[in-house]
Order: sequence, then structure tokens, then C-alpha cells
Amino acid sequence: MGKRLSEDTLATFHDSLDRVLGCKDLFDVFYERLMSRSPSIASRFHGFDVARIKRMLRDAFYLEMMASDGNLRAATRLQDLAARHADLGITRAMHDTWLETLLSVVAERDPRYDEAVEQSWRDVMRLGMDFMKTGAPV
Ligand code: HEM
Repeated sequence: MGKRLSEDTLATFHDSLDRVLGCKDLFDVFYERLMSRSPSIASRFHGFDVARIKRMLRDAFYLEMMASDGNLRAATRLQDLAARHADLGITRAMHDTWLETLLSVVAERDPRYDEAVEQSWRDVMRLGMDFMKTGAPV
């Protein structure tokens, strides 16, 4: 596993996460925007319970944070999640779109969003994104 992130990065991420999770529409806006980015992304969600995925994603943010703080169980759960997404045929490019869309929503919802906050999100999400992209179709 890579180097653990600094306390500073983790704290910056955690504070931003706290602020944005306070927004009731965070997940609705995120998934609406993600699906509107491309019909092929939208089609991947057909037949799935998106309300459930929204709830699971909330928990996954904490998994990402724990995994990037060196927690192996959290890292293993992220690898399982990545394997499931690879099975669903979700491509690397879709994962890039996913992250950029997420950051665009966080930027609008976090009143203290700045370069350091953006970087903390990228740093914390990196391990999970690496897992996702390693097994993903191109
Ligand atoms: C455009 C990219 C993505 C698409 C199209 C997508 C699509 C999906 C779909 C269809 C499911 C339902 C799977 C099932 O019920 O078995 C799902 C579940 C989930 N996705 Fe994604 N996903 C994407 C990227 C990501 C990323 C980068 C994360 C990062 C954390 C993530 C987190 C989750 C979580 C936490 C679940 C719930 C898993 C569970 O049931 O335990 N997704 N996703």
C-alpha cells in the first residue's frame, strides 16, 4: 500500500466531508449530474437501486479515509468494491468522470472549498480510484 496521508490532509478532507454531508441534496445532485454527463454512464445504473447506492457511497467516503490512513480492512473493502465495478464493466474513463463530477459538486456545496480542500479530496480518493482503475476495462 502507498504512503499514509498526513494528518493535515485527512483533517482537511474530514472537515470538508462534514460540511458537504450536511447538504441534503448532495447525493441527488451528484448522481443527477453524473448521469447527465454521458448516456453510457446513465445506462450502467439501470435496474439498480440508486437510493441504496447513495447511502452506501456516504459510508464509502469513510472507507476511503480509513484506507488512506493505512487501515487494511478498509482497503480490502475498497478492493472488493472495485472488483464489483470491474465486473459491471465500468471503464477507467467513467471513473475519471465520476471523480471530476464529485469534485464539481463538492466545490459548489463546501463554502470553504479552496485548492487545499480540493487536493485533500484527490489525495484521499486516490487509493480507491487506483483500485477501481486497475481492474477496470479501458
Ligand atoms: C461512473 C462510474 C461509476 C458507475 C457507473 C457506478 C455504478 C454503480 C452501480 C451500477 C452500482 C450497483 C452495484 C450493485 O448493486 O451490485 C454501484 C454501487 C456502488 N458504487 Fe459505484 N459506480 C461508479 C463509480 C464508483 C466509484 C468511483 C465509487 C467510489 C467509492 C463508487 C461507489 C459505489 C458504492 C459504495 C456502491 C454500493 C456497493 C454495495 O452495494 O456494497 N462507485 N455503482
